[in-house]
Amino acid sequence: MTDHLIENRRFWDAYAPEWVERGEAAWLAETPYWGIWATPESQLQLIPERLVGRSVVELGCGTGYVSRWFEQRGAQVTGVDLSNQQLVTAKGFARRFESEITFILGNAEATALPKHCADIVVSEYGAAIWCDPYQWIPEAARLLVPGGRLIFLGHSPWAMVCTDDEGDAVSNAMRRSYFDLHRMDWTRAPIDPGGIEFNLPLSKWFTLFRAQGFRVDDYQEIQAPAVRSPDRFSTSWEWARSYPSEQVFKLTKV
Ligand SMILES: C[S@@+](CC[C@H](N)C(=O)[O-])C[C@H]1O[C@@H](n2cnc3c(N)ncnc32)[C@H](O)[C@@H]1O
Repeated sequence: MTDHLIENRRFWDAYAPEWVERGEAAWLAETPYWGIWATPESQLQLIPERLVGRSVVELGCGTGYVSRWFEQRGAQVTGVDLSNQQLVTAKGFARRFESEITFILGNAEATALPKHCADIVVSEYGAAIWCDPYQWIPEAARLLVPGGRLIFLGHSPWAMVCTDDEGDAVSNAMRRSYFDLHRMDWTRAPIDPGGIEFNLPLSKWFTLFRAQGFRVDDYQEIQAPAVRSPDRFSTSWEWARSYPSEQVFKLTKV
């Protein structure tokens, strides 16, 4: 395993207990919501209405609530995650809520799933930020049938430029090179140490999508809601009212 896989598995196995409560709330939610600002599904429209008979793969499923929301619309869902501890939580919820989601321990950059097994691949802060885009976007392309859709949400490159490897909060200063964005290592951050994450400048995301045979159907930049909210994961509400802290891609494999 490469170092980011080892570090991120260690990080998420240790962090998993802190995600149980959040996961439970999302499994219980009457309507889906996304990302750090809990942006409603009605605004982002990430989940297609008709999913009966459709096969969905979630890459980096964590506690499994996104998989659950797709299952509730009729899809057959497989969730893949690198952390055994996160999957213990996800499987516990699946038992409790009588879900038939299949949860698999694995690396979203190279799953053991067969080619063309998915009509939809989805990620919310899973592969979307924890996997190397040059590995997981080709893997998503391999999993999808022609005409299949890749839908994912994670940090915007703006937020990544406005923080650095020290682990400080996102600020109004440009703290790292936009054009060099790729791998961000917070394992030795003096403030709030984390794992190893990834992002790209927008032009490189678009080049990668084209190279892997994706058409971009939509790109959304998420603004924090108008109602004042506490800081979320090192991002202040004030900052995220002025700049996009999160991004959404909706793609089709042509
Ligand atoms: C923020 S959580 C998952 C998001 C999910 N929506 C949730 O909040 O429960 C990120 C997840 O990505 C997983 N992850 C990190 N690297 C991964 C990889 N290479 N393959 C699969 N999962 C990975 C972590 O184990 C973690 O469970």
